[in-house]
Amino acid sequence: MSKVQPHDLQCLTIDQLEKLAAERMDKQTRDYYNEGADSGTTLAENKSAYQKYRIRPRVLRDVSFIDTSVEIFGFKNSIPLGVAPTAMQRLAHQDGELATARACKKEGVVMGLSSFSTTSLEDVKGALGEEHPGLLQLYLFEDREESKDLIARAKKAGYKAVALTVDTPMLGRRNLEIKNQFSLPRHLKSANFNREGTESEKEAKANIARKRKQEQEASQAGHHDGSQWVSPTGRITFHSHAPNPTLDWERDIDWLKQQCHPEMEVWVKGIATGEDAILACHHGVDGIIVSNHGGRQLNGALATIDMLPEVVEAVRSMDRKMPVHVDGGIRHGTDVFKALALGADFVWIGRPVLWGLAYNGQEGVELCLKLINDEIRLCMGLAGVTKVDEIGKEYLAKINRDGFMSRL
Ligand code: FNR
Ligand code: LAC
Repeated sequence: MSKVQPHDLQCLTIDQLEKLAAERMDKQTRDYYNEGADSGTTLAENKSAYQKYRIRPRVLRDVSFIDTSVEIFGFKNSIPLGVAPTAMQRLAHQDGELATARACKKEGVVMGLSSFSTTSLEDVKGALGEEHPGLLQLYLFEDREESKDLIARAKKAGYKAVALTVDTPMLGRRNLEIKNQFSLPRHLKSANFNREGTESEKEAKANIARKRKQEQEASQAGHHDGSQWVSPTGRITFHSHAPNPTLDWERDIDWLKQQCHPEMEVWVKGIATGEDAILACHHGVDGIIVSNHGGRQLNGALATIDMLPEVVEAVRSMDRKMPVHVDGGIRHGTDVFKALALGADFVWIGRPVLWGLAYNGQEGVELCLKLINDEIRLCMGLAGVTKVDEIGKEYLAKINRDGFMSRL
């Protein structure tokens, strides 16, 4: 049952949280977190596209008990929403990813951790605790040893899934990031890489030699020198090492499944078409996340809520049931309801959590998750739904360009 929560009178909506957070972040961080690629139209449309849909509420249905929970990775998640992996959270607040993990645990919400976190994946899992599920977002590097190492560590730490990000063959053009000459402040580091290493790793001389060499070298992004592709070298940074244009369905998904299964599920994050959803299904991934990286990659790409129906239809045409999640532009419980009504099994939010962190660390993330939780529950009740799996397209209408509405 919903408990009556005292309100933070300064912050009653995610939009207010965004404004409050903006006042507390330095310019470099605010720009890095909030920016989209190029002119930012996909970033804006991710949010505005939700306005094309309206809810058709049903009444007189006894909504005195509403169950907002869903199962994910064998865990009962309090709401059909998780925290999307976002890099470098200690830019927002000194406690960074640990604060997010503690808030996720308290609110019963699954956490996605970026490969480029400023806290190590082991420490984050420690804060989540044994029972609470974590998903590690993976950038698959050209240097497979480095990726193998990360996957093995995630498995050992007890992560339930990895999500391979597939919408970053190259990094999107983010002009403010360029203008600000973005760099991680000296007191922070990408904590999963460029590490000293554990005792057993210290014994592995080859490993150490490789890491030393990397640390001494300046980062260089992968590039084509005119005759051949040259892999990234040097210290691992997200600018130099996250983008990997060599990835390929045939070679890399099987390799990844071999590394992860059966202990960890393999998800693919960044699917944007029905065609690729079908390929993901053929290649036996455990689930897909419809995403355009929060509008940070290909500007001009469709808003994710506009891509979702074709992906859902494609997946439903397959024999195998594969879950479909979506992220991008979700700022209210009614957005979550609309995404589920259009066929998503679950959604993820990125920036709102960063704003919560910047506003007030762990408590700010808790506030963010509580606001969305309250809004989901209220929306379900007012729409006449008591269980998440009852939410279907009969609860939506679409507002067309001419201003008339149509049933779905
Ligand atoms: C991201 N996102 C992201 N995705 C990923 O796969 N690996 C990463 O390291 C990051 N890092 C990252 C940093 C920042 C600052 C942002 C805003 C986003 C994308 C993220 O997982 C998610 O797809 C979007 O954030 C969803 O959109 P909203 O909710 O931010 O609109
Ligand atoms: C970003 C990378 C780290 O979106 O995914 O900034």
